[in-house]
Amino acid sequence: MAKTRITWLGHSACRIDTPEGKAIWIDPWLSGNPSCPDRDRKPARVDAILVTHGHGDHLGDVVALARAHKPRVVCVHEIALWLQSKGIANLHGMNKGGAQEVCGARVTMVHADHSGAIEDGDRLVYGGEPAGYIVELSDGLRVYHAGDTALFGDMRLIGELYRPDLALLPIGDLYTMGPREAAKAVEFLNVRRVLPIHWGTFPALTGRPEQLAELVRARGVEVVSLRPGESL
Ligand code: NI
Ligand code: MN
Repeated sequence: MAKTRITWLGHSACRIDTPEGKAIWIDPWLSGNPSCPDRDRKPARVDAILVTHGHGDHLGDVVALARAHKPRVVCVHEIALWLQSKGIANLHGMNKGGAQEVCGARVTMVHADHSGAIEDGDRLVYGGEPAGYIVELSDGLRVYHAGDTALFGDMRLIGELYRPDLALLPIGDLYTMGPREAAKAVEFLNVRRVLPIHWGTFPALTGRPEQLAELVRARGVEVVSLRPGESL
């Protein structure tokens, strides 16, 4: 059986290719994402989409991809209601603390400390609480995608309970954790491998992977340095 493959498309967008050959997307903001390589703006395969919150740089291409590919869409209940109003089917709303099976993986919605309205034209629609996800693949790999978040103490619980092998943590600062907070998150999560996200997309996102790497070096933590479009 194949192994799980994780591809970063810039910002918070990532694709998890499962051992079963399915493509699970998290926060697929592709067409308007300055960091996304051109060849990845129109995905060939979308079996499932996980949405962390309603901001445009995360909800991104979800409506268009859902219409084109009819994937299973996983998100907080309020975003599911909004997507339903846009005619999207195969919605699997949930809330924090719960889990569901998605393409052979177990997906748990966990806390994130952020805000979460949906920008719908000139209106702001309540989009429920922002979230992160734990994705447990059938080959045993456990991935934590933190979404947009500040540092919070209950990352210790996430570490204790789900023991992630790999954490995708925002490090850009301003809207999310910067490297200093992410280094503390690494400690709380007790994770050995980190893929920095939500950095470098715009000049305002100033945090850099090298800064995080410097801060966690003594702990023997690997900060994976990928360019958008690259996989591990
Ligand atoms: Ni956000
Ligand atoms: Mn964001």
